[in-house]
This record gives sequence, structure tokens and C-alpha cells, in this order.
Amino acid sequence: MLRALTLAAALTVASVGAALAASDAEHPHDHAFSFDSPVGSYDMGAVQRGYQVYQQVCASCHSMDHLSYRHLGERNGPFALYMVRNHETGELEPHVGAPAHGGTFVDVTENQYVRAIAAGVTINAVDPNTGQLTDRPGRISDRFRRPFPNEIAARASNGGAYPVDLSVITSARHGGADYIYALLTGYTGESRGALYENPYFPGHYIAMPPPLAEGVVPYEDGSPTTVEQYAADVTHFLQWAADPHMEQRKRTGIVVLTFLLVLAGLMYLAYKQVWRNESH
Ligand code: HEC
Repeated sequence: MLRALTLAAALTVASVGAALAASDAEHPHDHAFSFDSPVGSYDMGAVQRGYQVYQQVCASCHSMDHLSYRHLGERNGPFALYMVRNHETGELEPHVGAPAHGGTFVDVTENQYVRAIAAGVTINAVDPNTGQLTDRPGRISDRFRRPFPNEIAARASNGGAYPVDLSVITSARHGGADYIYALLTGYTGESRGALYENPYFPGHYIAMPPPLAEGVVPYEDGSPTTVEQYAADVTHFLQWAADPHMEQRKRTGIVVLTFLLVLAGLMYLAYKQVWRNESH
């Protein structure tokens, strides 16, 4: 019995060692994101810019099947619309993103920004009258447009490699957001045929050509248009996409912990009270 256990333990250690050795990728360094700490939150400006980078660059190869355009305009979305009263004029004004105080949330069906984003995308879908596949402008209820109809077509266009769906990529990869940021900024500039050197990718060569270059996406808010900024923004967007309810979850966690602390204090006092005249 003991011998069998020892053998099993040795085998486990050996296989874990082998698994670690097999992944020769460089460990991503910590990038400071606003959502990192237990009380951290999303920087919605970064999520908005990150959507723009996804849409203008990554969406030509990567799908995001779990997202619909309407998600962008829900309460926790980057393009959530609020009506806020201007204190000087007394007028109600539209405000994209949750305002610091007050404001009335506008239902996503009435959100002209998200409607415009969806309408700007061409969706190939079944026409309900003819049954034929036809192109039409997107609606907010549509899923994010897929660049390829299926995996075979995606691989055929990418030298046999598959551009994975990015809906939950920050949860699906060891290192999460830090890994994505390191990967996007980690190209060395060397390539071998259609493979590009990137020390953060297992095996050091990736079939994805460096997707970002300085200035490829114009920003309207004056943020720098550098590879580092694009990479940080699109990673911020992908983290939001994978975990849109993070802020609410963290808030609930804090409330629950506070409650448990208070409860622990009360239980201690009750215990003292119950045993006050007993020697034990
Ligand atoms: C020209 C097509 C193309 C574009 C544009 C592109 N990718 Fe990729 N991407 C690929 C391919 C192909 C792979 C698979 C690479 C492989 O398996 O070697 C990939 C892989 C990935 C991976 C997965 C790496 C892993 O660990 O498996 C991530 C993350 C990624 N891309 C993010 C992005 C982001 C973010 C953008 C936009 C800034 C982007 N990609 C733009 C083609 C593309």
C-alpha cells in the first residue's frame, strides 16, 4: 500500500515537472491594470477604446461568439447610456458610461450609440422572407459578427492555424490579462516562414502576424496611439468581455466579508455572555 502511494506520488511529481518543462514560454510580467486589486474596477474609457481596437483589427480574424452588440450598452457595458441633468442649463444631456453621481440609465434599445455600432457592421443572415443568406446592417440583438463561417474557413485563411474565439480568452489562458498584454507587445520582429517569434507563446513561434502597429487605430480622446496603449486597451476590453459583472461581484464580496466580520464579533460576545459564570 505504502509503496503504491509512494509510486503514485513520484509519478505525479514527475508528470507535473514534465508539464512545467514542456511550457517553455516566458512568464508574462505584471502589467498594472485598474481591475487588478480586490477592489479594482474597469476603466471604461480603456474598454471603449479596446472595443475599437478589437473591431478595427482583431475582428478580421477572431470571433467573440458570446457577445451581442446589446451587451455594450447594458448597465455594466462600456457604452451604457445615461441621461444626466446639467446643473447650469437644467437640460438633460446624454452621457456615455456611468456618471460619477446620479443619471438615469437609458435602456439599450433606446441607446443610439450602440444602435449605430451595430448598424455599422454588415451581418450575413437568413432573410425571413426569402430564406436566402443575405447581407443586412447589424441589429443590437445580433451576436458579434464572425469573420469566418466556420473553423475550416478560418484555418484555410490563416495558414492552418486557428484564430481562437476571444469571448473568454482572459479566463482561458494561464496568466490572464498579463499574458494577453505580453503576447501582443512581445513580438521580437523575427520570423520563420509564416511563424513569428514571440517568447510569450508556448513554443516561441506563433502563426498570428503582429496585429498591432503604431497609429493603426485613430483615437478620439487623445490617448497615445502606440502598440503598448492599443495592447493595454484591447486587453482591458477582453477582460471586461470575459467578466462583465466583476465590479458587482467584488462589491458583494466586500459586503459579505463585512457581514461575516460583524457576525464573528457578535458570536464572540454571545459566547462570552453564555459562559460568563462558568469556570472552564
Ligand atoms: C490576421 C489574422 C489575425 C489578426 C488580425 C489577429 N489575430 Fe490573434 N491569432 C491569429 C491566429 C491565426 C492565431 C493562432 C496562432 C497559433 O496558434 O499559432 C491567433 C491567436 C491569438 C491568441 C491566442 C494565443 C494563445 O495563447 O493561444 C490571442 C490571445 C490573440 N490571437 C489575440 C488577438 C488580438 C487581441 C488581436 C487584435 C489586436 C488579434 N489577435 C488579431 C490571427 C489573428
